[in-house]
Amino acid sequence: MSTPPPARQPVASSIEPVPGAAGHPQSFHVVTFGCQMNAHDSERIRGMLGGLGMTEAEGHDDADLVVFNTCTIREKPDQKLFNQLDHAKGTKRRRPGQLIAVGGCLVEAQKQMLFEQFPWVDVAFGPGQIHELGGYLAGRSGNAVASGATPGGDAETGGPDLQGGAGYWGIGDERAFAAELPVRRERAHQAWVQISMGCNMKCAYCIVPSVRGREKSRPCLAIVAEVQRLAAEGVREVTLLGQNVNSWGRELPVADRIGFAGLLRAVDAVEGIERVRYTSPHPAHMRDDVIAAMAECPTVCEQLHLPLQSGSTRVLKAMRRTYSRERFLELVEKIRAGIPDIALSTDIIVGFPGETEAEFLETVDVCERVRFDGAYTFIFSPRSGTEAAALPDLPHAVKQERLEHLIGVVRGIAKERHEARIGTVQEVLVEGVSRTNAERLRGRTRQNTTVNFAGSAPEGSLVDVHIVHASSETLLGRQVEDAPIR
Ligand code: 5AD
Ligand code: SF4
Repeated sequence: MSTPPPARQPVASSIEPVPGAAGHPQSFHVVTFGCQMNAHDSERIRGMLGGLGMTEAEGHDDADLVVFNTCTIREKPDQKLFNQLDHAKGTKRRRPGQLIAVGGCLVEAQKQMLFEQFPWVDVAFGPGQIHELGGYLAGRSGNAVASGATPGGDAETGGPDLQGGAGYWGIGDERAFAAELPVRRERAHQAWVQISMGCNMKCAYCIVPSVRGREKSRPCLAIVAEVQRLAAEGVREVTLLGQNVNSWGRELPVADRIGFAGLLRAVDAVEGIERVRYTSPHPAHMRDDVIAAMAECPTVCEQLHLPLQSGSTRVLKAMRRTYSRERFLELVEKIRAGIPDIALSTDIIVGFPGETEAEFLETVDVCERVRFDGAYTFIFSPRSGTEAAALPDLPHAVKQERLEHLIGVVRGIAKERHEARIGTVQEVLVEGVSRTNAERLRGRTRQNTTVNFAGSAPEGSLVDVHIVHASSETLLGRQVEDAPIR
């Protein structure tokens, strides 16, 4: 997928502790940016570092190794990371020997610049190359060393390299499923399961295909075996993850090509799993057999994140989304007919190059017709190397105004959608104590809406909750007292 940048002086491939370091790093801290795929990759990073005998530090300042797992989908996360890397320089000065690792999508997108601008970074690894961080730490020679890049630190002095720009590139041609690494899950009863990596679509705004590479599916047997393992560990809810999750399996050998609908059915059949979700699907690949599997599999939740991006056919075409406004609306109708109580959420980009006010209002109109339960709304952000980055950008003020308009509309609709649940009883998977009120519990409905509620039940149990209040984001309720806790 990538070629490492020009070779620097090769030095020994084992960890070279810099002065002041007690030896190999004993503790680590992981900072995560971006999507669920990245959050899951961070779980694997934690699991792998734990497997190397390291412990998790409270925060950045207490860690021997700080790992930034980066995102580059829009300019904002880039800026956030750069600020944190500047801050890391100071921390490293105060804590000599601290190692700084940067992984994820930004590394892949900006590998030329990273060590030049942030020479105190010791090691970098792309998405799909988490194992390279382990290789670096375990002192094995990975792809990068083989191609002549150097481990971090100043090779001459052995001191911390705060200016030099000599880091270890853990970027090779071999991508591996992070799913094959050990994991340290954020939650005991819910788990992400990676089913594919990369994306073969060519959306004009999107940098993901160039940083995460061509789509590669994990075989069904490996996925089901992982879900079975998770169930045996007490996991009750799994979310299948992929950049283009519903095109899963197309390039697998014929015997394994059971399609995404077949995979949903296979995961549904795993004993002990009560809820199955997936994200993110592409509307163009949302086939009838997937809708049927969702409707027929009792564990597959009545929830779908279906990225719209724009409600204008002309803009969708310019975005290379491969569906029209009408096709999207027809699809929603079909989904609602098959799964009546489904909650739909979406992603929308405002201010794509050339988007007129009338075209923006078509997006607002689609939101009003579909009535999403929630929407992530983004201002178009030109990403270097993508098709849309070469097009004239709209003035920021115009994009900002459209964003605020859209947020007002989607929030109003979400609130109404949630208010319609007042008076109903919802099945809630308990996730812990409420974040806003320690007297209450917190969990999620099958529609994936957060519920804060009065009650008592252990984390990971399924309870019935009577809904009494709703906002655009959450529900408030009371546990039904005489209903069984499952
Ligand atoms: N600018 C703004 N938003 C973007 N997204 C992807 N690329 C860009 C970009 N260049 C949004 C899309 C995608 C979500 C994950 O991020 O809406 O679905
Ligand atoms: Fe960010 Fe996209 Fe990479 Fe996720 S896949 S980390 S959202 S750029």
